[in-house]
Amino acid sequence: GTISNRAGKQRVADQIVSKIKEGDVIGVGSGSTVYLTLFAIAERIKAEGLNILAIPTSIEISMACSKLGIPLTSLYEHKPNWCFDGADEVDPDKSLIKGRGGALFKEKLLISSSPLNYIIVDDSKLVDKLGSKFPVPVEVFPQAVLHVEEALKALGAKDIVLRLAGGKDGPVITENNNLLLDVHFDSIDKDMEHKIKAITGVIESGLFINYSIEVLVAANDA
Ligand code: A5P
Repeated sequence: GTISNRAGKQRVADQIVSKIKEGDVIGVGSGSTVYLTLFAIAERIKAEGLNILAIPTSIEISMACSKLGIPLTSLYEHKPNWCFDGADEVDPDKSLIKGRGGALFKEKLLISSSPLNYIIVDDSKLVDKLGSKFPVPVEVFPQAVLHVEEALKALGAKDIVLRLAGGKDGPVITENNNLLLDVHFDSIDKDMEHKIKAITGVIESGLFINYSIEVLVAANDA
């Protein structure tokens, strides 16, 4: 992903690196803030000979870990001790919108599997109401797309955009071979995550409402 607001992102990345202990199995989310963190983790591995394992949430993060010498494992082999991830929006209740990078399903799976989760954001991600800046990404089984669009409209969706790919013709195909809909709502209530998930054909949404997370925020101008 692109790295905007780099100073704030670097600062929260450094906070994560200081939490790593010998033997940790760490779930690694996706996005540019997470990506930055990997460089600092790799430095600690080199400097201290730390033994850690990372469980990645995307091909991009797997490749970065491999290049940087951060050993990988999977949810088949290990349960994470903790995980860290970015977000696109964070509201005052610590609910999130994620999925700009398209990795929302594996990110939610990891956060659900992990007892301790840090969400690292710069202060541009803080919103009073979810949906103020970002649409809600919804991963959809391809043959279900028309059915899901209809059901989302019944839930109050105002605008639904099939996410298109850069660098190829046609839509984004997720790592799970599905499509992504970016869904605009006027308001998002506390049940919306469950209502969306209950639609047949929906794999997952980028709404994370009431998860057990700790949010680490860095100011860009600090
Ligand atoms: C990936 O699917 C997203 O959920 C990311 O966690 C999010 O987009 C992170 O944003 P940054 O690239 O700004 O860290």
